[in-house]
Amino acid sequence: MKIGVIGSGYVGLVAAACFSEMGNKVICLDIDEEKINNLKLGIIPIYEPGLDTLVKENYQKGSLDFTTDIQVLLPNVEIVFIAVGTPMGQDGSADLRYVLNVATTIGQKMSNPLIVVNKSTVPVGTADKVKSVINHELSKRNINIPFSVVSNPEFLKEGDAINDFMHPDRIVVGSDDAETINTMKNLYSPFTINNDRFISMDIRSAEMTKYAANAMLATKISFINEVANICERVGADINNVRIGIGSDNRIGYKFIYPGCGYGGSCFPKDVSALINIAKEHDYYPNLISSVEEVNMLQKEVLFKKLTKCLGNDLKGKKIAIWGLSFKPGTDDMREAPSITLIRSILSAGGIVNAYDPKAVNEAKFYLKDCNVNYFSDKYSALEKVEALVLVTEWKEFRSPDFILMKKKMSDYFFIDGRNQFKTKFIKEKGFKYIQIGVKS
Ligand SMILES: NC(=O)c1ccc[n+]([C@@H]2O[C@H](COP(=O)([O-])OP(=O)(O)OC[C@H]3O[C@@H](n4cnc5c(N)ncnc54)[C@H](O)[C@@H]3O)[C@@H](O)[C@H]2O)c1
Repeated sequence: MKIGVIGSGYVGLVAAACFSEMGNKVICLDIDEEKINNLKLGIIPIYEPGLDTLVKENYQKGSLDFTTDIQVLLPNVEIVFIAVGTPMGQDGSADLRYVLNVATTIGQKMSNPLIVVNKSTVPVGTADKVKSVINHELSKRNINIPFSVVSNPEFLKEGDAINDFMHPDRIVVGSDDAETINTMKNLYSPFTINNDRFISMDIRSAEMTKYAANAMLATKISFINEVANICERVGADINNVRIGIGSDNRIGYKFIYPGCGYGGSCFPKDVSALINIAKEHDYYPNLISSVEEVNMLQKEVLFKKLTKCLGNDLKGKKIAIWGLSFKPGTDDMREAPSITLIRSILSAGGIVNAYDPKAVNEAKFYLKDCNVNYFSDKYSALEKVEALVLVTEWKEFRSPDFILMKKKMSDYFFIDGRNQFKTKFIKEKGFKYIQIGVKS
């Protein structure tokens, strides 16, 4: 099939690369010229395991191309995906500016029948808005070209995005047109050999499914973090409690790891957008609002533990941070808990030595107003620090050289925001080990 993808970020680029890998002819577009020029040179704008090879190989084969020109894309495709950002607006709702700009351009420039697919995460009712914007532009041109609008939310996880896209748990497609659903089914058939994974429904339910899925996962995270905070106060150990409840397969082990709060480009903005959607429809979502509130407080937990160790005045005290991205396997810094922690340390007068395997450049952008010392090696970041805070659980932090760490550090507070180690094991190495959800 001939496919266009508008927006070449985490979702658009992965989708374009995976569709082209399956033998489709794909054109990927972005308004960011530098990004498109770099992609043509094989320079990938984001860190996502396996993406660079897929993009380079398919570009060289001619099954994947890049452009900034919508006039190159639209006449040569039958399905066009909208995969631009839907960031959090000032009031917490989803900002639809980019999606509706794309819809306007499609209406202004399309010349052949199209299936327009919303892959961006958008509030319920957005497909109707996209449809009416395109219709409005077509009527201004005084022409009638058939098109349909489909909702096809994306469920990939950054850090494992290629695997998720190639082997999805489910493909959700919302459309009111049987022929369009059939075309979408054919497009996704190489990814869903088991047809049960293709779920078609009405458009509004498909739009809502994405928010409900993210809100459910965020709820599990805030739930376990709240239980961890209670454990700490009553002298229970969240690491045991987690295993105790996860063994009940109605609960399961996934997404019940205690930590320093969820971040990233999806959960914070999607939870917030869902709260807004509910309020706009005269419903106050008590549970989901609390999920958000618990998460905001949880992002401050590591700083509180740090000041409990070093005192409230951190003036001149050097602290190392291992891991900056919001989770391992990505360089994405959007809403990362490390940002909250670093800002708090600096405002209390502390000095921050930071290390991350992939996210340093992104961190420099998100913390451009902050004076942070960045290191390209995790041990160098420990030179004369009084405390180490582990924020992101990259694999390389799982089995570090504890002897070398101790040699570098001037004091041995080790605050683990991801509960990676057994307390007894780390204490035997001579560290003052502090975890989340365990009394210290
Ligand atoms: N990142 C994820 O893990 C993930 C997962 C599932 C769903 N989503 C959703 O997918 C959507 C995209 O997210 P992302 O993380 O890929 O965003 P992103 O910010 O990484 O990429 C968006 C891209 O769109 C481009 N763009 C903006 N306006 C444009 C226009 N008018 N024409 C062409 N390109 C334009 C930007 O330059 C940017 O490259 C969002 O709605 C997000 O919520 C993201």
